[in-house]
Amino acid sequence: MANIITFAQQKGGAGKTTLLTQLAAHLVTKQRIALIDLDPQKTLTGWMDERIQRTVEADMDLIESSEWRIGVDIKKAARDADVILIDCPGTADMMLGKVMRETDIVVVPAQPSAPDVWATRATVRMAMKEGADAYVVLNRVQPRGGAVEDIAAKLADEGADLLKERIGNRVAFSTAFGKGAGVSETAKSSKAAEEIAALAKAIAKKLR
Ligand SMILES: Nc1ncnc2c1ncn2[C@@H]1O[C@H](COP(=O)(O)OP(=O)(O)O)[C@@H](O)[C@H]1O
Ligand SMILES: [Mg+2]
Repeated sequence: MANIITFAQQKGGAGKTTLLTQLAAHLVTKQRIALIDLDPQKTLTGWMDERIQRTVEADMDLIESSEWRIGVDIKKAARDADVILIDCPGTADMMLGKVMRETDIVVVPAQPSAPDVWATRATVRMAMKEGADAYVVLNRVQPRGGAVEDIAAKLADEGADLLKERIGNRVAFSTAFGKGAGVSETAKSSKAAEEIAALAKAIAKKLR
């Protein structure tokens, strides 16, 4: 049975596609990965297009899906994959509920800002309603961002399950993204790669 991990957060720009692709690039050396792009903006598909142009063979599958095909597409992806990573648009509509019902865990990236906290609340509630475990990961954390601990406390107060692993605001992430790669490939012994490895480990634990 494939593990299904959905990246959701109704706020755009929180880091869903970035963290999903980082995780995919990190995991693909050991597991068979399938990607499902549910965002009409097709950012994940763009990343994969870059990747295919740069590598000899496509090392993961990508399905461009939609609300009415998602059930079928998950089944299709599950045939050949160990892990299915689903990228959602920055909305909280019916489709998101449907996806969450089919998902093992939901990863909710949030930047340390008040609007992200508000949006996170809605996304986490939706996951709870649909019976999926949701884990919030703080993204683009600045080295001396004073408000981060306040934000973390607020999120925890609201019942969000906050991962202790945090992702910094690092150029390496956006550089890798533009190359259809992950920092585990482009910046092997960087702090960014360490953070992604730690996040992958934390997520793997939640799947057990
Ligand atoms: N940890 C990070 N460090 C630096 N830039 C980041 C980080 N996470 C996301 N970004 C940048 O922020 C923008 C939005 O990220 P993205 O993953 O597309 O968000 P979403 O998919 O939630 O809309 C992108 O330009 C991306 O490169
Ligand atoms: Mg996105």
